[in-house]
Amino acid sequence: MNRNQDQLKLAVARAARDYVAAHLPQGALLGVGTGSTANLFIDELAAIKARLGGTVASSEATRQRLEAHGIRVLELNAVESLPMYVDGADEIDHSLAMIKGGGGALTREKIVAAVAGIFVCVCDQSKRVTTLGKFPLPLEVIPMARAQVVRELARLGGQARLREGFVTDNGNLILDVHGLTIADPRALESELDHVAGIVANGLFARRGADVLLLAGSAGVSTHTRSA
Ligand code: 5RP
Repeated sequence: MNRNQDQLKLAVARAARDYVAAHLPQGALLGVGTGSTANLFIDELAAIKARLGGTVASSEATRQRLEAHGIRVLELNAVESLPMYVDGADEIDHSLAMIKGGGGALTREKIVAAVAGIFVCVCDQSKRVTTLGKFPLPLEVIPMARAQVVRELARLGGQARLREGFVTDNGNLILDVHGLTIADPRALESELDHVAGIVANGLFARRGADVLLLAGSAGVSTHTRSA
């Protein structure tokens, strides 16, 4: 990551803090994502923690960072609804479909996103793409299924490579799939959901973002998913 990208991530983290302050009702719960942009957002969130009813974390790393700031973290099972979720992405297209999982937290991120009312994606401009797939698509995989999933992905035209030395918060492996051109993200997401041994895939298309806060050289712009 270069210095300019660091500055854009900080700018969008601050914009997300302001978005939460303006749109999340006082005392409501907030879902919090994972990754370097989410980490900067958590640091900014500390300034408005008194107005939050609590948070739900999408990873152990996020839970620890929230708690280090004295921000209350609840288990998702203890929560009936979550009005808003703020998270980053590895790629996002113009329909606000995303590739996520660069940090390996895709399964919990997908679960929290499924509960959330509004998904606010926070990105720097390097993440905006016309077609998803240049960033290798992460898959969380049950260890005994690794070789079979690699074969299935080869059948779909992708080269799935093991993320060496990485174990997810759920005790599973990550395969990063190279070489996919994702013309129809919803269709591929559904197809991968039916491959035995894949716990979750990093396509967030059926449940994409509702709002994108995008940091570029001219500032942070707000994009809303068209119906
Ligand atoms: C973690 C994710 C992250 O949101 C994604 O990898 C972006 O991370 P960063 O903000 O560090 O670029 O999906 O699983």
